Amino acid sequence: MNITVMGLGYVGSVISACLSKTHHITGVDIAKNKVDLINAGKSAVVEPEIDDLIRDGHMEGRLKGIYDRDYRIDSTDVIIVCVGTPSCLFGEVDLSSLIHVTEFIITLLKETEKKPAVIYRSTVLPGTMKEVVLSLYNKSFSEIDFPIIYHPEFLRESSAIKDFFENPQVVVAPVAGIDADGAENLTKKIYKDIVYRFYCVNIKTAEMIKYLNNTFHALKVAFANEIARICSSEDIDTHSLFRIFMDDDKLNISRAYLAPGFAYGGSCLTKDVKALTLLAQQQHVDMPIVSHIERSNDVHIHCAFQEILESGLNRIGFYGLSFKADTDDFRESAYVKLIENLLGKGKEIRIFDELINLNTIMGKNQEYLVEHIPHISKLLVGSMDELIGHSDLIVLCHYNRKIIDRCKDENSIILMDTTGKLGMEDLSQNIRSLIFA
Ligand SMILES: NC(=O)c1ccc[n+]([C@@H]2O[C@H](COP(=O)([O-])OP(=O)(O)OC[C@H]3O[C@@H](n4cnc5c(N)ncnc54)[C@H](O)[C@@H]3O)[C@@H](O)[C@H]2O)c1
Repeated sequence: MNITVMGLGYVGSVISACLSKTHHITGVDIAKNKVDLINAGKSAVVEPEIDDLIRDGHMEGRLKGIYDRDYRIDSTDVIIVCVGTPSCLFGEVDLSSLIHVTEFIITLLKETEKKPAVIYRSTVLPGTMKEVVLSLYNKSFSEIDFPIIYHPEFLRESSAIKDFFENPQVVVAPVAGIDADGAENLTKKIYKDIVYRFYCVNIKTAEMIKYLNNTFHALKVAFANEIARICSSEDIDTHSLFRIFMDDDKLNISRAYLAPGFAYGGSCLTKDVKALTLLAQQQHVDMPIVSHIERSNDVHIHCAFQEILESGLNRIGFYGLSFKADTDDFRESAYVKLIENLLGKGKEIRIFDELINLNTIMGKNQEYLVEHIPHISKLLVGSMDELIGHSDLIVLCHYNRKIIDRCKDENSIILMDTTGKLGMEDLSQNIRSLIFA
């Protein structure tokens, strides 16, 4: 294939170097010195293994550079856009290069019969491809009869070449002029023999994944450093601590606790986050992330509270009350907090939880429940039927297929899921998600 890479910075250089093993690559940039370097068989960026790829690509006639004003589409099959999207003063994304390069591509497309695919790899916030990029194309063409695809880039500088060839994650979103099958076929032609994990998603998901990844990476670094600061104040060996932490691939370095769902609850997470936050304050160790975890969790409960209030419905049922299914531990249950707030607004609450037995729960567990929901015994019902009979809206705290199907049949009841376990096929006018998924 003849592939043009627009932008010869870190991303564009790596992509040009790697794809030049199997395709003919033209690297285009507004910076003439970067173009000259490519034409001298040299890389414009420092990156392990890139020099050999660029030298070979250049010597074997598969890689060349062109200054942007000299570039014409001619025989191009694919244009890959890799221009920068840096931060402006207050963090807004500077889209000027992206807009400029898009206008440039549009001008060139108008001069040719050729219809190359245009693939955008620059990182942009959700909505940008449709509202900014696609609208430029729509203003210039009555019909978009060439493919436009968004394909976020995940490379890590310093291991970018290795990452490119070793089982990369390929996420694509058809933007215009192509469907999912077409996007998958095009990807296969570009990556050829490389084995990759392929995801075809909608545009906003493709735009968001990069922000999810990078925010999580930044969170991990900052979190580890916060823990290291408190460890240092307590003379704890952070490295041996983190070795044990990271060896736990069941709960720590794992999928556990990472699926969006309802607020956390239960006595352990709640009290331990509180205690560590207090220790940090006492030691004058600044831990902004840890000290805001509880607040973040409360915001999640508050959002659910608001959503229930906004429904305008009065008779609210709760299926489940303990902080998670299959336990009768109510301490610090986020559902108890939600019910407490709703009772304060005069809502008529009923609760069904098969594991509640007011005669057998005791100690702190009982104290917590009675303190937060003093008339709990009057709110409990003995069966799912009773709960359904009472409620205009049911909050699903614990997953149960039977009640989901019952509410599906009873169109007049709204079911709000907090478990995150309902599939898209379950969601409908009256079966909604309370976890903002
Ligand atoms: N660097 C990374 O590790 C990385 C990883 C993944 C994604 N990204 C994203 O990829 C994009 C590119 O990042 P980068 O680090 O390569 O940026 P960069 O600043 O290193 O390179 C951008 C290049 O685009 C060129 N350019 C600007 N306007 C142009 C135009 N109109 N025509 C042709 N070339 C033009 C610039 O001269 C520059 O060489 C950004 O959106 C970035 O967020 C970067």
